[in-house]
Amino acid sequence: MASNTVWHAHKVCRDSREILNDHKACLLWFTGLSGSGKSTVAGLVEEKLHEMGKRTYLLDGDNVRNGMNRDLGFTDSDRVENIRRIGEMSRLFVDAGIITLSAFISPFRSERRSVRELMPEGDFIEVFVDSPLATCEQRDPKGLYQRARQGEIQNFTGIDSPYETPEQPEIHVINNGITPEEAANTVIDYLLTHGYI
Ligand code: PPS
Repeated sequence: MASNTVWHAHKVCRDSREILNDHKACLLWFTGLSGSGKSTVAGLVEEKLHEMGKRTYLLDGDNVRNGMNRDLGFTDSDRVENIRRIGEMSRLFVDAGIITLSAFISPFRSERRSVRELMPEGDFIEVFVDSPLATCEQRDPKGLYQRARQGEIQNFTGIDSPYETPEQPEIHVINNGITPEEAANTVIDYLLTHGYI
């Protein structure tokens, strides 16, 4: 904790918020290459949870980088700081009693582990949205891979910046040859069978 600051424990706490919401909170952490389908799957999962009456919030790469993290680029150290801030923000959202969905490339194992360690035990659910690089590059929804290959974008994940695949994700979605609906259902099934919802 920063020096000369004291953590305040308030009377209205996570437990009381969860009782009011009538469900538990947790953090679904979607990681994968650009174009792997993280945002699409996370968005569909959120829609399904919303329809089930759950309180949710989706934090998404491009959106957060346009606001809170607009000062950060894509060097290794900026990505580390990006994920550190998002981890802290996700922790607050979960403390607010919300099922939080965070969809970021989050390419480094150490940063994903740091977010896991920040969260109370069992609250961090890593969802690896796994699409081969060749597939992501073929999809290239924003034309970024093409620009990276042409040298117009530096430090592009999968091209000249690493992506460290999760070793033991709670949920491994092989997002190749399945529909977004099927991918989203894998996540919902996990939440149901593990008693999160
Ligand atoms: S990270 O690595 O977790 O800090 O990245 P993230 O915050 O998720 O941002 C990824 C989105 O930024 C766009 N973009 C890039 N991605 C990777 N490498 C480079 N150099 C880059 N430059 C811009 C891209 O649109 C990513 O969005 P997604 O949704 O992942 O395709």
